[in-house]
Amino acid sequence: MDPDIDRIIFTQQEIERCTDRIARQINADYANESVIVISVLKGSVLFFSDIVKKLTVPCEMDFIAISSYGNTASSGKPQLKKDIDADICGKNVIIIEDILDTGKTLKSLCDLLKRRNPKTLKICVLLDKKVKKACEISADYTGFEVEDAFVVGYGLDYAQKYRNLPYIGALKEEIWKK
Ligand code: XMP
Ligand code: MG
Repeated sequence: MDPDIDRIIFTQQEIERCTDRIARQINADYANESVIVISVLKGSVLFFSDIVKKLTVPCEMDFIAISSYGNTASSGKPQLKKDIDADICGKNVIIIEDILDTGKTLKSLCDLLKRRNPKTLKICVLLDKKVKKACEISADYTGFEVEDAFVVGYGLDYAQKYRNLPYIGALKEEIWKK
C-alpha cells in the first residue's frame, strides 16, 4: 500500500465487481438504444474506461472538464474547462463522474447539458459521499457510498497525485492538512 494512504476503503476486486454491476445495469437499461457516455476529466477516467469496456450497447465516448476544486476544498462556482465534441440533442447521454460530494459540480454540469436537449440524461458516479448535498441532485448509477473522508486512487487525486492507485483509499490527514 502507498505510504501516504491511511487505509484502503475499496479494493481492486470490489471495484471490479462494481463496474461489472453498473455496466450490466446500463446494458439492460439501454437495450436497443445507443448512448453517448461522457467522462468528466480527470477523476473519472479509470472508472469510465472500465465501464465502457463492458458495454455491449452501441456507444460514443466523449470528454468534458470542469473545475470547482483547489486541492481539497470547494472554490465555489464550477468552471467549464473543456467542452464535449458531440451534439447531444435527441441522444441518450450518461455522465460518468468520480464522486458526488456537495453536488455542485454535477448540478452545474447537468444544467449545462440539459440546455442542449438530450433525449435522456443520466448520472453515473463511482462514489457518493455521505454528506449533505448543496443542491437537489442524485445519481442514477452509484458505485459505492463512501464515508466523509478525503479519498484518492482509481482516478481520484490530491494535488494531481495518487490517481494511478488501483484501489480507493483515505489519504493520511497529515498529507492534506499540511
Ligand atoms: P462536489 O462538491 O461539487 O464535488 O460534488 C465534486 C468534485 O470534487 C472533487 N472531490 C474529491 N476529489 N477526493 C477527491 O479526490 C475526494 O474525497 C473528493 N471530494 C470531492 C471531485 O473532483 C469531484 O468531481
Ligand atoms: Mg472530478
